[in-house]
Amino acid sequence: MEHIVEPKELQKRMVILRQKGKRIGLVPTMGFLHEGHLSLMRIARSQCDVLVVSIFVNPTQFAPNEDLDRYPRDFENDKKKCEEEGVDILFYPTSESMYEEEYSCWVDELMLSKGLCGASRKGHFRGVCTVVAKLFNLVQPTLAVFGEKDAQQLRIIERMVRDLYFPIKIIRAPILREPDGLAMSSRNKYLSSEERKQALCLQKALKGAVLRFDQGERSSRILKEEMTSEIEKMPLAKIDYIEIVDDQNLTPVNEIKSPVLVALAVEFGKTRLIDNQQLLF
Ligand code: PAJ
Repeated sequence: MEHIVEPKELQKRMVILRQKGKRIGLVPTMGFLHEGHLSLMRIARSQCDVLVVSIFVNPTQFAPNEDLDRYPRDFENDKKKCEEEGVDILFYPTSESMYEEEYSCWVDELMLSKGLCGASRKGHFRGVCTVVAKLFNLVQPTLAVFGEKDAQQLRIIERMVRDLYFPIKIIRAPILREPDGLAMSSRNKYLSSEERKQALCLQKALKGAVLRFDQGERSSRILKEEMTSEIEKMPLAKIDYIEIVDDQNLTPVNEIKSPVLVALAVEFGKTRLIDNQQLLF
């Protein structure tokens, strides 16, 4: 596995590989890798010749009051996992090299970013789009894999690729869960054992919505009320949002007539967890 720290060095290396006709796969991450991340690497690995993984805790996607400083890091362990997955190039730049002094260019998506996490995390998706656009320009991958765990992020990246003509295929990877149903996340490590137990209400609420949808319930209001009362049973849970939105444009839906995304964000102490579920016909 090659290790590259300097953005321009990566770009030079990738130009050579592309000229050789290699299919290049990219998996962008913020590290503290878990099985969810590794599943993305396996999907990419099966469809490319050269697998590039980036590990970069991107400061511009964290608001000043968020958890940038305490975001979990374990680079040695991450490196080992990447080796084991057959990663060819591991890119782990510094913040200073990804953001030159007085950087002043951004990539912003203005529609899909408005609601859900975009409403409670101002500027978050501008940071995500900007860093992902930088990574796309550095790696120039044939394909890049993103997880459904971050469903809004995935749809925003797809929109950015469409609107800005990035010649990159975006692959959607399913959500990987712990055996008891909690969606895997680097942030799960913050949960106390009581919070961890109560966090199962997220999956329970989403499963309940699927069941009621399968029974024929089509009212978003009713489904949201039922999910709210399921989550409010847990004294440590503080709901940020529970929304039912159009699966493509992420606008709120009252009566469900076409595919929707049920998305929620719930805080347990200082830890904010997200999860989601598509309702398909
Ligand atoms: P991070 O949270 O590290 O996630 C990296 C990728 O792994 C994302 O595409 C995310 O959706 C996916 N992922 C995380 N948990 C998953 C799970 N349980 N199942 C399936 N996929 C999962 O998302 C980011 O980093 C950053 O915003 C990034 C795109 C790297 C830009 O900084």
